[in-house]
Amino acid sequence: MTSTFNEIPKAYIIDKLTHQKTYLLNGELIEWTGNTSDIYSTISSTEEYKPTLLGSIPVLTEKEALLALDAASDAFGKGKGLWPTMKVADRISCMEKFVTQMKTKRDEVVKLLMWEIGKNLSDSEKEFDRTVEYIYDTIEDYKEMDRNSAKFEKHSGVRAHIRRGPLGVVLCLGPYNYPLNETFALLIPALIMGNTAIFKPAKYGVLLLSPLIEAFQNSFPKGVVNILFGRGRTVATPIMKDGRVDVLALIGHSNSANALQDIHPKSNRLRMVLGLEANNPAIVLPDADLELTIKECVNGTTSFNGQRCTALKVLYVHENIIEDFNKRFCEAIDALKFGNPWDNGVQLTPLPEPDKPNYIQELIDDSIAQGAKIINKKGGLRTENYIFPAVMYPAKNEMRVCEEEQFGPIIPIIPFKNIEEPLDDMASSNYGQQVSLFGKDINTLAPLIDTLVNLVCRVNLNSSCQRGPDVYPFTGRKDSAVATLSVHDALRSFSIRTFVASKDNEYNNNILKELLDSRASNFVSTDYLL
Ligand code: G3H
Repeated sequence: MTSTFNEIPKAYIIDKLTHQKTYLLNGELIEWTGNTSDIYSTISSTEEYKPTLLGSIPVLTEKEALLALDAASDAFGKGKGLWPTMKVADRISCMEKFVTQMKTKRDEVVKLLMWEIGKNLSDSEKEFDRTVEYIYDTIEDYKEMDRNSAKFEKHSGVRAHIRRGPLGVVLCLGPYNYPLNETFALLIPALIMGNTAIFKPAKYGVLLLSPLIEAFQNSFPKGVVNILFGRGRTVATPIMKDGRVDVLALIGHSNSANALQDIHPKSNRLRMVLGLEANNPAIVLPDADLELTIKECVNGTTSFNGQRCTALKVLYVHENIIEDFNKRFCEAIDALKFGNPWDNGVQLTPLPEPDKPNYIQELIDDSIAQGAKIINKKGGLRTENYIFPAVMYPAKNEMRVCEEEQFGPIIPIIPFKNIEEPLDDMASSNYGQQVSLFGKDINTLAPLIDTLVNLVCRVNLNSSCQRGPDVYPFTGRKDSAVATLSVHDALRSFSIRTFVASKDNEYNNNILKELLDSRASNFVSTDYLL
């Protein structure tokens, strides 16, 4: 495989650098005059390979981090702030204002997604559109939640008006593989429920937020959203140490989540909404439809180069069909096209982390040292910014590629004779997000499904693992997640049930009636939100 430099279409040429010179603090875009960090793409703009400079971001310090915490904390005002006490309809208006502006930035964001993280054009567009849809779905779901709460109930002589209220200040940290979608899948529900937030983008996929920063500034009251740039350790550590963060919302690695959780002085107060690593397996039974299975396994292992928490990270294939499976799977992998994100029909694209090809090579070397071979022709071929997916066979659990979440282009295949082998591996694994199960005979599938649903949180029958559609619960067991993130569940994860109760007597009932008639309270309301 050689480098596939093609001329870059005019629309995608980096003709202007994005120097993010401000950060969003307490409703102001503050000019930063301190240290900055250049942002490079691993994609070359010239035939002779050279990373492309895209722009720069501020490298903020502990001081700005704590000022952002002050701002978010003041905006929440210990529950007395404007935002947490606002009418639901008014918070929704702010969100609608934001999404309307966001939609106008599609082209800029998509272009930066491609350059910053190497995601191909159609997936970058999908990420943007899916996020916009997520925001609209969240608004609709919140309205429905509000309608369902717009009532009183009475038990044992006590009347209650029960709603969901915000939790407080949220520190929001997203991942580089979905820098827009997954970050917003945390931030948007957190905000709409009345929480205030401090948000720091991931290391890669940061400039793509620049086109949206003004929309954040002019859509929400001051201090509700604060956007910081810089190193996670410098910025997130002091914020967590301070103790005023009520929710840590993070999609990333459990090492970061644990480190941040551990330094919070009041761990009992801290809520966690975490999407962490996973090692989703595919189990291919002897009666599986191989054409369909291979298509799904190729997609599941290589979509965005395997840099998805939901990617298939290991394939368990029954020994009766392994020869046929391996041959056809390898042919399909080798037929995948590598190129730049905007190239036509490209499935494999440059890796955004410059060190990733070397890391994948280490995993290949370790597997080979433990008895596996690369069984596809192109496996392990290198360019300056890529390493072609290597299919490693026969793999075994002791190999690093099976123990670590590779999050990149390497695919271990483990043969099995007895179904208990993959089940035992899954049971002893630290992860428990999803599984793909390929087969047809319901007498075999039924007991397997009954067990698998207790090992993971989604069993994908004859299809690869995935998060979407976003209305379905996205979560995991063991080290894979804390809390659930569907459109609906996320609203619950970022809120708590809170209510007004009163003894059912004339005195109280008159007060309630007056409260409702006057519309003086934003909480006590039976208005039907259209
Ligand atoms: O990185 C993990 C993502 O949540 C995966 O989402 O299945 O839509 O690619 P996806």
